[in-house]
Amino acid sequence: MKGFILAGGSGTRLHPLTKVTSKQLLPIYDKPMIYYPLNTLLKAGIKDILIIVAPERSGDFLNLLGSGKEFGARFTYEIQDKPSGIAEAFIIGKEFIKGDACTLILGDNIFTDDFSEVIANHKEGAKIFVKEVHDPERFGVIEMDDAGKVLSIEEKPANPKSNYAQTGLYIYDDKVVEYAEKIKPSARLEYEITDLNNLYLADGKLSAEIVKGEWIDAGTFESLHRASVIVREHELGMNAGSSNLEVKIKMPLETKEDVTV
Ligand code: TTP
Repeated sequence: MKGFILAGGSGTRLHPLTKVTSKQLLPIYDKPMIYYPLNTLLKAGIKDILIIVAPERSGDFLNLLGSGKEFGARFTYEIQDKPSGIAEAFIIGKEFIKGDACTLILGDNIFTDDFSEVIANHKEGAKIFVKEVHDPERFGVIEMDDAGKVLSIEEKPANPKSNYAQTGLYIYDDKVVEYAEKIKPSARLEYEITDLNNLYLADGKLSAEIVKGEWIDAGTFESLHRASVIVREHELGMNAGSSNLEVKIKMPLETKEDVTV
């Protein structure tokens, strides 16, 4: 199982913060944002990770994360020339995947769940992770039947069919590049992850899993702030027991000790 972290994009909703740095390098309490999605992959035992970055910021990510050795992992970097969509990752990372299965996580998504088991047990098709939200029209919205079978996915619909949003974590089998190569850019000229997932859905090969713990898409000022508050509460033990943030991140530069987040 290979890993992908999407850390490109333009972060326009966080201007002016993201005029001088990348969204995924901004602090979430006491660590750069990208540490959290990285940790989600490392916790699941994924050691071979491709980090996709924008050209302007590539050096900063290399300085921060290096080869991956400090994390007990191997990092590869690829530049996405412009933010042409999340599904473009599989075109850019075709050589890296080399016919393996992979897990993709967005660099601004923070989860507290441990996905080790579901990732280890993934055999065929694609799996998306969904979470109930109060503002589904901002997200890809998933319609499911009573058995949890996915019926439809709609990108930012005006009239959402459910309150379930597609989060920024996806598992794909070894056919993902084949599927990704079939996608055409959308009206906003992006290779849409929803289009990729809809191709799997059309073949009856898409399943969904509900995220039990916290999920934060830290791409707005409100959610960026909320992420820091939640992480701080957990670090200081102010919110003990309410969710599982018992994750360990290896601090690469300052200390070799495990730090509980
Ligand atoms: P978004 O939040 O959808 O886009 P953005 O980061 O450009 O922000 P904004 O809408 O405020 O301009 O992206 C979600 C994640 O995916 C984020 O970590 C950036 C990453 N991403 C890429 O790496 N490449 C892309 O082409 C896109 C669209 C996103």
